[in-house]
Amino acid sequence: MAYAAFRSIGSYVPSKILTNDELSKMVDTTDEWITKRTGIKERRIAAKDEHTSDLGVEAAKKAIQRSGVDASEIDMIICATISPDYFCMPSTATVIATKLGLGKITAFDISAACTGFVYLISIAKAFIESGMKKNILIVGAEKISAIMDYTDRGTCILFGDGAGAAMICATQIKQEAIIDVHTASDGNYADLLMTPNGGTGSVHDALEQEAAGCFMQMKGNETFKVAVRTLTKDVIDILEKNSIDSSAIKHFIPHQANYRIIKAVGDALKLKEEQVVLTVEKYGNTSGASIPMAMDDVYEQGKLKKGDLMLLDAFGGGLTWGSALVPFSPK
Ligand code: ACO
Repeated sequence: MAYAAFRSIGSYVPSKILTNDELSKMVDTTDEWITKRTGIKERRIAAKDEHTSDLGVEAAKKAIQRSGVDASEIDMIICATISPDYFCMPSTATVIATKLGLGKITAFDISAACTGFVYLISIAKAFIESGMKKNILIVGAEKISAIMDYTDRGTCILFGDGAGAAMICATQIKQEAIIDVHTASDGNYADLLMTPNGGTGSVHDALEQEAAGCFMQMKGNETFKVAVRTLTKDVIDILEKNSIDSSAIKHFIPHQANYRIIKAVGDALKLKEEQVVLTVEKYGNTSGASIPMAMDDVYEQGKLKKGDLMLLDAFGGGLTWGSALVPFSPK
């Protein structure tokens, strides 16, 4: 049987930095409020002519190069994004595949908001274990600034742009395999986080929708409470199910939504500070890109070593959530 190995990681961030102080000139907020409530100090913003696919391409180039897999051997690409290059079609995955010259491979996007990267891992694992594919490029890429209402101070202070990518490859070595992935959703909470316009669920007709804009809306405080409750249960469940003690986790890499959510889940698992990966301060919430960007941050610091066990967790619009137990398995 083939197992799925997490071979490599890469990320990319746009150069433009948007600080809390700059945001406080755009909406009624302060650096102090944002820092205290979220832990975020700054985030990156893509240029006008820089599309989500462009961010994904740069992250993917690094992941492919570090995997040791030749680009011609990649047989599938999946992209998680809530800020695709185009509404409905073509998928951002096909745009990235073409920009990378990957040929006529299977390519599609998934919509699981901030949980996107965990969903990508579960899909890649299933395709490889079933024997259908061998080398899968997964990309979380977001230009959230393009779907953000910069008059909504409760939401715009949280988000930024960026991309992360990884190669998931077939292996016969069980110790290299992704151990487990858990994914879930509950549409009863759909109204906590949504982009109400742009789709057929909108109450507006096409022209009214254009005027209203296709922006994200969030009920932050309610989302916060459900996130802490759901994520804490989810990470405890995945560890118990696999009989793994939290002390065996080398890197806990949560979705970087809010420092207070990360701290609450880390405390519930009794994790030490050095086990918890934090990039929320410099990048904010980059939705489907946040986990691979945080993982690459650890890699770039030389702290992510072969065999290190990672625990990933994420929570986002849908609502969706999930967790994964992943050993880092470069060639
Ligand atoms: N600056 C100053 N004051 C503000 C700001 C701001 N930027 N935003 C809101 N406030 C005010 C509110 O108006 C409110 O004022 P009031 O008491 O006079 O009514 C007060 O601050 C408290 O507001 P809350 O919304 O209760 O603040 P909270 O402590 O919950 O923090 C936050 C808000 C940061 C948004 C938090 O709720 C959060 O992080 N939520 C979770 C977000 C998340 O995890 N989303 C999931 C992933 S995202 C995805 O899937 C795309």
